[in-house]
Amino acid sequence: MKAIAVEPGAGDPTVIEKPIPEPAAGEALVRTLRVGVDGTDHEVIRGAHGELPDGSDRLVLGHEAVGVVEDPNGTNFEEGDVVVPTVRRPPNGTNEFFERGEPDMAPEGAYLERGIVGEHGFMAEYFTSPAETLVSIPRDLEPLGFLVEPISITEKALEHAQAARSTVHWEPESAIVLGNGSLGLVTLAMFEKVLEIDRTYCLGKRDRPDPSIELIEDLGATYVDSRETPVSEIPDVHEPMDLVYEATGYARHPFETVEALAPNGVGALVGVPDDWSFEIDGGKLHRELVLHNKALVGTVNSHRGHFEAAVDTLSSVPEWVTDDLVTGVYDLENFDRAFEQDESVIKTAVEFDTL
Ligand code: NAP
Ligand code: BGC
Ligand code: ZN
Repeated sequence: MKAIAVEPGAGDPTVIEKPIPEPAAGEALVRTLRVGVDGTDHEVIRGAHGELPDGSDRLVLGHEAVGVVEDPNGTNFEEGDVVVPTVRRPPNGTNEFFERGEPDMAPEGAYLERGIVGEHGFMAEYFTSPAETLVSIPRDLEPLGFLVEPISITEKALEHAQAARSTVHWEPESAIVLGNGSLGLVTLAMFEKVLEIDRTYCLGKRDRPDPSIELIEDLGATYVDSRETPVSEIPDVHEPMDLVYEATGYARHPFETVEALAPNGVGALVGVPDDWSFEIDGGKLHRELVLHNKALVGTVNSHRGHFEAAVDTLSSVPEWVTDDLVTGVYDLENFDRAFEQDESVIKTAVEFDTL
């Protein structure tokens, strides 16, 4: 079978040949339909994030997959079930995080991530996966099933942000997403169309005309250009934010977020930065956090429950939003177009097969 693999930091992904995998006991064999591409894939390709599997010089990419069960292999699935796989797997047998159903809380060394950290991903014509890592989705959601994983990331981030305020009354009326990449925009759509937050904003650094700015405004949100309005100045130029969702990976943003937050506000951080040293006024930030009950929550990955919530969320995002968000789905012959990064691109996927 064909798979899309990369030698991290050493060039573009290529198509390679691999044997069709044999499902072990408890695993199903899945025929891959579509696999999405996100900022993490680009970080893996340039060698900034992730790890090769032991003994491999290339990594099969892909962690945002949707597929169809080809061989249930004695699991409770039926041939033809449409499924989305979760991303983390235990490195050796299992461990307490996986046993508790909280793989997303496992520390480094206690997990592998398919397509990212130490285990091949889903960008192959077939993959196998343990039954408990496969989440069924309705057949009519299949074309967009590759959005379930990124939405699950935000389901977790919002759960953790909410949990930081679970002992008090907290209903965000103003919220900003930092970042107009695919994760930022899908999250903005959730803020507008699912959470129905009164006033929403999205930060970018692009000139108009730009498809992401059009989508931001069509969603009813306000575009904020970070070149004109640094995050710390958002309260003066716009308003203080009850909720900030950081999805750029720009390392100054978490600190500026403390200033952008309204009293009692929460900042959820998902962007992954490179190393970068710079000066901040630590005293001011510390004081803001304490005297105004502000919280910052870092969050990575997601568990099965977040995937299940994401399936419901995906079905309530209007079709015009996903039509504008998904700017390209490419077959294996044109797979390289799914990895292009010009400003016309928002979200892409590689199509391996159809239902
Ligand atoms: P992406 O496509 O690279 O999006 C990042 C966006 O942020 C880009 O559109 C970029 O704008 C914008 N940006 C960067 N610096 C900015 C600044 N200073 N001001 C305004 N906008 C800025 O990546 P993604 O797939 O949406 O993911 C977003 C981030 O979340 C990445 O860091 C990724 O690694 C991380 N992530 C984390 C998790 C998790 O579990 N924690 C899961 C998925 C992704 P331009 O395009 O104009 O450069
Ligand atoms: C993936 C997560 C993963 C994270 C860190 C994200 O792009 O969606 O599942 O935990 O990267 O590797
Ligand atoms: Zn991802």
